[in-house]
Order: sequence, then structure tokens, then C-alpha cells
Amino acid sequence: MKTAYVLNGPNLNLLGTREPAVYGAATLADVQAMCEAAAAQHGLALVFRQSNHEGELVDWIHEAGRLHAQGQLAGLIINAGAYTHTSVALHDAIKGTGVTCIELHISNVFAREAFRHHSYISPVARAVMCGFGVNGYPQALEALAGMQG
Ligand code: DQA
Repeated sequence: MKTAYVLNGPNLNLLGTREPAVYGAATLADVQAMCEAAAAQHGLALVFRQSNHEGELVDWIHEAGRLHAQGQLAGLIINAGAYTHTSVALHDAIKGTGVTCIELHISNVFAREAFRHHSYISPVARAVMCGFGVNGYPQALEALAGMQG
């Protein structure tokens, strides 16, 4: 059984209370439960984490990269939050490990402020999803399960 990583960046621990008009009412625990159900449905083991610290996210991408090197990783879904728009380190970690990456955003970042329109993740992602609300998470897991390599 291959493993899917779902990594969440800064402020996503506040889901449920943070700008509910933008991000909805579901908490991160709700999102984790949705991901666990989707992973089980698609025959994937799941690692689901959140951090407010860029370096910790880099370390977890490296961890996923080691599984990738062993042929045990289905891929990585990352909602990097605001680091999406700032982090060369996350870009380099994804590129350097060669993991299959889906970039995910709950909101439609292109319908929001201009500073959210640029992503350091997109050029190193296999696919980009945004604007599906928290339903994007199980949808991304389904998509990952259907991807080859
Ligand atoms: C987000 C969009 C980002 O611009 C923002 O900084 C977030 C959440 C989203 O899921 O829509 O923290 O990644």
C-alpha cells in the first residue's frame, strides 16, 4: 500500500473559526477525517499534518521524498497557505525530492488579492486545485490515487 502525504501550512489549524466566509465551517480535524475516509476508499495509507513553520514543512517533504525514493509514496498534497506565495524553500524541497505534488487551496486564490495570484509551488506541482472548499482534499486524494508515478 502506498502512502499519501497531506501537508497543511500556516494558519490552517484555525480552520472552522478563520474567515468562515472564505474557508467554511469545517475544522482541520474534520478535514483530516474526510482525508482518512478518502484514503481508505482508494487504498492509500495517509500521513496528515499541519505546521505553522516553514522548515518543518520542508523536513516533512524530505520525509515524503525518502518514501518516494523507495517507491512507497503515492504523492504529496500540499496546502502551503501563505507560504505558497513566498517560499522558495518549499519550491526547492518539492523539486529536489521529485515527489508527485498536488497544490491545493480551499479558496479560489485567483478571485482574491493579487498577492495570492503567484505561487512558488505551481511550477513544481503535477496539478493545482483551488476553490473547491475543503471538498478539494478528498478530490485531490482520489486524483492522486489515479495518477501513475
Ligand atoms: C489558502 C490560500 C492562501 O492564499 C492563504 O494564505 C491560506 C489558505 C487556501 O487554502 O485557500 O492560508 O492556501
